[in-house]
Amino acid sequence: MKILLVSGSRNREGQTARAARALLSGAESEGAETEEIFLPEYRIKRCRQCNEDGWGLCAEEARCIIKDDFAMIFEKVKQAGLVVFATPVYLWEMSESLWCFCTRMRRICFQWKKYYDMKKKPAAVLAVAGGGGTGTIRTLFQMEQTLDFSGFDVVDYYPVKRLNLEAKLPRLVLAGKWLASAPGTIE
Ligand SMILES: Cc1cc2nc3c(=O)[nH]c(=O)nc-3n(C[C@H](O)[C@H](O)[C@H](O)COP(=O)(O)O)c2cc1C
Repeated sequence: MKILLVSGSRNREGQTARAARALLSGAESEGAETEEIFLPEYRIKRCRQCNEDGWGLCAEEARCIIKDDFAMIFEKVKQAGLVVFATPVYLWEMSESLWCFCTRMRRICFQWKKYYDMKKKPAAVLAVAGGGGTGTIRTLFQMEQTLDFSGFDVVDYYPVKRLNLEAKLPRLVLAGKWLASAPGTIE
């Protein structure tokens, strides 16, 4: 099974990356193939509500009018068996890069369910409050909500804060093992 990490962190060695890597290493030990995308490394512009009524080309043609890296990453999401969405907590929300990606994906998937429905593709959500340590639960809620609008089945939730990161790493490895064969995953 292919597991794709879509991370909203800009830091490949940061706390979010360490937590996500623990999850992926658990999945890899059960035979999963993994790939990592760090969104801040790509050009992904915000939705510009591209026609007069605000519904945009995505509502008419199930594609985004903006020519940037979104389409390539969206294609990888569609091809993956399970997607781990990970983010540092920024002001009690997901990071701007992940939010930008999710809002464009949500528009296409929500409007065009009959074509681009994720068909309950399994997803897992990881939020790392690496500063004061507050905001993980609200961030996970925000992630679940936007992914639900996009047709995913969120199968697990991982709240982490700076204080408990080290303690949680081995548990994330175990959780990753489970993800490799999570109920509902598409082979
Ligand atoms: C704009 C901004 C807002 C932040 N807001 C929060 C917050 O609400 N709660 C928290 O615990 N940490 C907050 N932080 C700290 C980040 O969660 C922390 O720096 C995190 O480790 C960054 O992730 P990384 O290690 O993957 O880069 C914020 C950091 C930034 C830059």
